[in-house]
Amino acid sequence: MDILKSIAFYNKLIFWILIGLYIPFKSAGQSPQTNSKGLKDIYQSYFTMGVAVSVSSLKGEEAQLIKREFASITPENAMKMGPIHPEENRYHWKDADSIVSFAQRNGLKVRGHALCWHEQTPAWLFKDSKGNQVSKEVLLSRLRSHIFTVMQRYKGKVYAWDVVNEAIDDHPGAYLRNSLWYQICGEDFITKAFEYAHEADPDALLFYNDYNTERPEKVERICRLIKNLKDKNVPIYGIGLQAHWSIFEPSTAELENAIKKYAALGLKIQITELDISVYPWEKEKRALRPGEPDAYTSALEKQQINKYKEVFQVLRAHRKEITGVTFWNISDRHSWLDEYPVQGRKNYPLLFDQQLKRKKAFYAITKF
Ligand code: GLA
Repeated sequence: MDILKSIAFYNKLIFWILIGLYIPFKSAGQSPQTNSKGLKDIYQSYFTMGVAVSVSSLKGEEAQLIKREFASITPENAMKMGPIHPEENRYHWKDADSIVSFAQRNGLKVRGHALCWHEQTPAWLFKDSKGNQVSKEVLLSRLRSHIFTVMQRYKGKVYAWDVVNEAIDDHPGAYLRNSLWYQICGEDFITKAFEYAHEADPDALLFYNDYNTERPEKVERICRLIKNLKDKNVPIYGIGLQAHWSIFEPSTAELENAIKKYAALGLKIQITELDISVYPWEKEKRALRPGEPDAYTSALEKQQINKYKEVFQVLRAHRKEITGVTFWNISDRHSWLDEYPVQGRKNYPLLFDQQLKRKKAFYAITKF
């Protein structure tokens, strides 16, 4: 009897040991996506994590990913002046409305992008009915009416706006970009855009947004602009660092320096269009050269992991100044950097791979 009892006891013991071994083994084998916290949860006490979206990404598995990982969305194109205001007396609301209503249904914040930019402008904007360039007065009144119409439609639903995008020139020796905005209005288009935006929705957080904002010489030019605006009491809340970075730049010292200088001007900072390209920064369109690398090698993957880790260490250290981090596109399945600026070349700049699975870079920035 005793022998039987002890056999039964040992059987039970072995059974529970096996169960104990099986559970952790089973969960280790499960897709981490299904049972762990999303990026937005891991970073909840740091900053709002966001992503740029198009209407087509708001369904199926991409929508699931967005809801699981992010707390904020930015319309990639739908709120730009060209797409949303194609004719002077006609707005195209459909896409922007769908994005905003997706956000509302799912409890996501929305960053509006962008009210005044020199690219993706509608054909009518700078011309009168005879095809002549409009005066400063006309252009500013068009800008005012655009800003009022768009911002008031989404009042209370869009918490922050990129009011002016990329007004600084690409050449270190120049100051403001010689865009049509500048040619027609001088520096005033910037001041006015912020004033109109504040009037249209006094609760919205207003940003100046730009790229290469960590390059020391560009930091100085941006600070000059911000100081000018501040001296004129222009209602600006923050600066958007687009953060179209690469495995080569910025260095942590450059990033630190930029954050400190912008914060010293009394601005909050958001990272608005983050991706880390596996190729060096270039702007001019060109074809892929024979033999030029275009694959995601393990060497590039490692460099990218390190860069992601490095920049997020800096960002976390500045959680008081940084209030949001938005990625530009969802996964490596599609990035604006595919084919840009090098035609025929794919890029792999994001945290999710082409199957929408978390990449090693994801784990590198979430284990801290
Ligand atoms: C700039 C703009 C974005 C987007 C990217 C490229 O950074 O601010 O809206 O157009 O270029 O996709």
